Amino acid sequence: MTTSLVTDATPAPSVFRAGLFDGHVALITGGGSGIGRGIADTLASLGAHVVLASRKLERVQAAATAIVEAGGHASAIAVDVRDPDMVNRMIADVHEMHGRIDLLVNNAAGNFYAPSETLSANAWKSVIEIDLYGTFFCSQAVLPVMRARGGGCIVNISMTLHYRGWPLMAHATAAKAGIDALTRTLALEWAPYGIRMNAVAPGPIPTEGVRKAFTPPPSAEGVPDLFAAEKAMESYGRNAIPLQRWGTPADIAGMVAFLASSAGAWITGAIMVVDGGEWLAKPPRG
Ligand code: HXC
Ligand code: NAP
Repeated sequence: MTTSLVTDATPAPSVFRAGLFDGHVALITGGGSGIGRGIADTLASLGAHVVLASRKLERVQAAATAIVEAGGHASAIAVDVRDPDMVNRMIADVHEMHGRIDLLVNNAAGNFYAPSETLSANAWKSVIEIDLYGTFFCSQAVLPVMRARGGGCIVNISMTLHYRGWPLMAHATAAKAGIDALTRTLALEWAPYGIRMNAVAPGPIPTEGVRKAFTPPPSAEGVPDLFAAEKAMESYGRNAIPLQRWGTPADIAGMVAFLASSAGAWITGAIMVVDGGEWLAKPPRG
């Protein structure tokens, strides 16, 4: 039997102790899908109450229900991270309900492959606002809540494509470079309050958005060639990732849990790359 390099990475047993985050509240933007959902599953399995926030309430609600059915504590809230008023209301609601927010994971993002030559002003604005403004608005809004409790932890989900440049991703790479800068600057500004801010930079994880990017344009009959996408991803895993497989949401979640735990107590302003060695090995033109 051939093992897929894309989907079959066997999850390793958790190295974290059961109940590590008992009583903690973790707010995860974009927690209803992909990497955010993986982070939510991991934190909930370690005892945290996870609050999943995104635009589509039904999506975060379904994920929260699944976590509760699996024995965890979870709830859902609607937010568009581009809207500072909505973000402030979200933080106030979560604070009122739980009395604390120990961890904020700024994971929500939007992007798509598009040539910058023809990118509309609104397309540029949408991605920059979701990724960069959203990260800032959520962090600024949670600051007083964390500060009042004497500290807290914020983890921003970045990427590695801006380390060398990545054609057709001008908007997202610019936004994520901004997120890295924010991570270092706010880490310094907020350290006196006991608030740590770090980032995790994932390599390729086969979420729905990424699968879309690997799927060739549909046939004349309008059918997307999913087999071709799987083959292209398989080949990418073999040839472009030194550790020879795609990542999983759990790979990223493990780093988030580490940073949020007492093992990360002296880490702030760090950008942790979790990518199987991909960016180091990447040919410059991608
Ligand atoms: C060019 C595009 C476009 C495309 C949208 N736009 N898609 N332009 N090429 N493929 C333009 C629209 O025409 C519009 O401009 C503007 O962007 C806003 O589009 P809306 O659909 O109105 O915006 P909105 O509903 O707010 O949605 C935001 C979004 C969308 C970013 C455009 O894609 C989204 O919601 N994404 C969330 C999920 C996501 O992207 N996940 C991927 C994460 S994976 P005009 O001028 O027409 O008004 C990831 C992996 C990175 O980060 C690594 C990859 C290898
Ligand atoms: P995903 O499944 O598409 O997740 C994106 C999430 O963000 C969705 O749940 C979406 O939910 C939410 N979101 C989008 N716009 C929002 C807004 N305006 N307000 C609130 N929530 C919003 O993608 P993913 O691959 O898991 O990506 C998660 C994070 O990892 C992103 O920061 C991404 O840049 C980063 N990353 C991913 C990869 C990868 O290979 N997958 C690599 C590097 C970095 P709604 O639609 O319900 O709002």
